[in-house]
Amino acid sequence: RYQAVIFDLDGVLCTTDRFHFEAWKQTAKEVQAPFDETINQRLRGVSRMESLEIILEGSPLSLSPDEKRRLAEEKNDRYRALLSQLTPADMEDGVRETLRSLRIAGLKLAVGSSSKNAGFILHQLQAEGLFDAVCDGNQITRSKPDPEVFLRAAELLGIPAGLCLVVEDAPAGLEAAKAGGMDCAVIGDAALPFAPDYHLGKLEELPSLIL
Ligand code: BG6
Ligand code: MG
Repeated sequence: RYQAVIFDLDGVLCTTDRFHFEAWKQTAKEVQAPFDETINQRLRGVSRMESLEIILEGSPLSLSPDEKRRLAEEKNDRYRALLSQLTPADMEDGVRETLRSLRIAGLKLAVGSSSKNAGFILHQLQAEGLFDAVCDGNQITRSKPDPEVFLRAAELLGIPAGLCLVVEDAPAGLEAAKAGGMDCAVIGDAALPFAPDYHLGKLEELPSLIL
């Protein structure tokens, strides 16, 4: 019944979410803020500057816009250094196979990511050719939980939002999908604000649920 599937990138198609965690950990230390997996969950799906603001909630410092820009830039430099080690082997075979089965079944496939590094990541994974459209943080003005990135991806595919399924790992991503009028499958064990349409342990479970 779906005509398209829109995938989040970080934490769904690849495990770059652990690199975000590593890179932000250093920032948190610098601003004397606590940082753990619970705080990290809140950073999933939201933009770089919004992520920094969430970390700064726990900091005793009050920083100027210039200092914030520097911290975000330095985090991104550390993150990019980690990303440069990615190879095609970092996209699991099961993920590639899932994409192939969905495509063979006639579904259109897109990426919908808040990241400005999405193009670089897909290049490193040699995965650009697996999608009919990519919409990322460079093409939007409001990041998840706003539905903009998913609505734009649906538009690029030429498929009505109601016929798209979004696959996410983040609470903000689930909210974004539903705000855009889309069904949503969530992978993993994040604490969610409401139940998704499908809950998956692994991406490989998707084809049998929707085909
Ligand atoms: C999302 C991640 O995909 O991209 C967020 O889940 C991240 O954690 C956001 O903050 C922005 O990423 P980038 O690569 O533009 O700093
Ligand atoms: Mg994610």
